[in-house]
Amino acid sequence: MDESFVTLEFRENALYLIDQRVLPATYTYYTCKTYEDVEFAIRDMVVRGAPAIGATAAYGVYLAAVQYAKQEDFSTELKKACDLLSKSRPTAVNLAWAISRMWKTFLKVEKEPTDMILSTLKAEADEIRAEDIRTNKQMGKIGNQVVPQGATILTHCNTGALATAGWGTALGVIKEAFYAGKDIFVYADETRPRFQGARLTAWELTEAKIPSALIPDSAAATLIRDGKIDLVILGGDRVAANGDVANKLGTFALSVICKEYGVPFYSVVPLSTIDFDLADGSLIPIEERDKKEVIFVGDTQVAPLDMQVFNPAFDVTPHQNITGIITEKGIIRPPYKENIERLKKGETL
Ligand code: MRU
Repeated sequence: MDESFVTLEFRENALYLIDQRVLPATYTYYTCKTYEDVEFAIRDMVVRGAPAIGATAAYGVYLAAVQYAKQEDFSTELKKACDLLSKSRPTAVNLAWAISRMWKTFLKVEKEPTDMILSTLKAEADEIRAEDIRTNKQMGKIGNQVVPQGATILTHCNTGALATAGWGTALGVIKEAFYAGKDIFVYADETRPRFQGARLTAWELTEAKIPSALIPDSAAATLIRDGKIDLVILGGDRVAANGDVANKLGTFALSVICKEYGVPFYSVVPLSTIDFDLADGSLIPIEERDKKEVIFVGDTQVAPLDMQVFNPAFDVTPHQNITGIITEKGIIRPPYKENIERLKKGETL
């Protein structure tokens, strides 16, 4: 079963992104013709979600290469463009991962004719995108093993096709379970302040016709305490080497409640979201976003303009609160440090 929409697509010398700032009221594509457009699209969250950001940035590097290929200082300018793209959002490691992969590809063909450099970079960006979809389908199959028949699942933020190059991570697992015939029900947190759950996950659940309900974030604790949730499945933006997971703000609180009431708590991430060289979650840079996101809901002002605001986009869930981290290579379970180390060495779990 495939989606009726394409989150990101490169054609006719431009990158087309579904504009996620305006869904679900408006379905429109945002066009990136330069790497500066790509940098803006990531920073302003036209596109968001860790794997989607990575694939988008890969095309950003390609667009920069097209722009600078004929210049004497091609490699210096391309490096500068990579640095600019890397800074567009700080928490999801997929961004740095994809840019570094594109840069390494460039270094391999740097001395070749321009046409070959460009076609190699384009092919690498296409492969990053295609690989992400394949990976998500694989994680869906693996993750489906932990979803009981008839399960009621709680999820947070948006981890579907919109957050990736296609299919999704946590929402990919949910879709796999649903299409495999499991009689599931999904509660989606609305996910203040940008409402990725309400605007994007609810839209994807509706498109996929999965039985579901939208809840205010604060209703999750009551549902979990009352035994209404069988498991929580959500995504991740950066996993540290000890299994701590940075994900959308609110994830940490959910993990604490799940631990208190013995509800399984899974994070679904591709290996490109694991920062193998980062010792623990305290070292993950957490993005703080504009106070306007909290003071306004859409165009409506809901707090005094001069109020101080703390608006971190993500929080870190300690590995002790996580039942398992679902990847394309299998489910990482405690002891996380040892098992992540094994994955780093290419060993099987
Ligand atoms: O700020 P966002 O919308 O980019 O945050 C997205 C999330 O936190 C997702 O849970 C995460 O990227 C995993 S998506 C496959």
